[in-house]
Amino acid sequence: MAKKISINTIQKYKDNNEKFSVLTAYDYSTAKYIDEAGIDIILIGDSLAMTALGYPNTNSIGVTEMEIFTKAVARATNHALVITDMPFMSYHKTEAEAIENCGKMIKAGANGVKIEGATDYILNVIKHVTQVGIPVMGHVGFTPQFLNAIGGYNIQGKTYEATLEILEQAKKLEQAGVFSIVLEMVPEESAQYITEHLKVPTISCGAGRYCDAQVLVCDDLFGKFSDFKPKFARKYGDMKSLIFNCAKQYNEDVKSGKFPSDEEVFTLGEDELKQLKIH
Ligand code: KIV
Repeated sequence: MAKKISINTIQKYKDNNEKFSVLTAYDYSTAKYIDEAGIDIILIGDSLAMTALGYPNTNSIGVTEMEIFTKAVARATNHALVITDMPFMSYHKTEAEAIENCGKMIKAGANGVKIEGATDYILNVIKHVTQVGIPVMGHVGFTPQFLNAIGGYNIQGKTYEATLEILEQAKKLEQAGVFSIVLEMVPEESAQYITEHLKVPTISCGAGRYCDAQVLVCDDLFGKFSDFKPKFARKYGDMKSLIFNCAKQYNEDVKSGKFPSDEEVFTLGEDELKQLKIH
């Protein structure tokens, strides 16, 4: 496996017109296999609030939970760049609080953090966080943490003016020091225009084919999360059925006495067995 990916590798990909891959992971074993498969960036996305913890949206998760999942993923990862999503309200009160919480993710093993939005307030936070040496991935277009303000899971950048607005936000993020930018739920022509006008790489999350990279939520890719399926989430497997069938078979085997078998038990030696039978 090639050496550890850094933010410089990511920029080189863009400069050389080479696509790269981003995938979420939340636990040790999943991160291990994703890393071995050669994924470039592993994102501990706050999507785990929904996929792993069963919350209705991403806003319910906190810093402590993100730290725990970051530790698990970081321990498993040798190759990929590890980025942790900063949860809702963890970088919103003061610059000092933002630096402290982002620093917690670095101490937990992340190589950088992702921060949603590009309002003046958020841009200022990003400047402070990058200035202390913490790489930041930006995120514009549809930003789930702004769900209540946006008013629904709406596609962004649907007009010429709206595309220019996202580009302006992305340029400001670039100036604030981000090393890459997620574009979420944006028409692919708008995402292409934005990508062509930026120096840093863009990562498509439902923003079409012309971004520099693609990101998917691992549970969508594995076919594990079934509460809803975004249009852009390609399913590469059917883990839901796999888990269901394994659990069903196990349940039946326990109840019928087929599990455990001779090979799956520890047995006593003959002498000990004789004594047991005598007493
Ligand atoms: O939370 C997440 O998983 C994300 C990605 C899908 C971009 O933000």
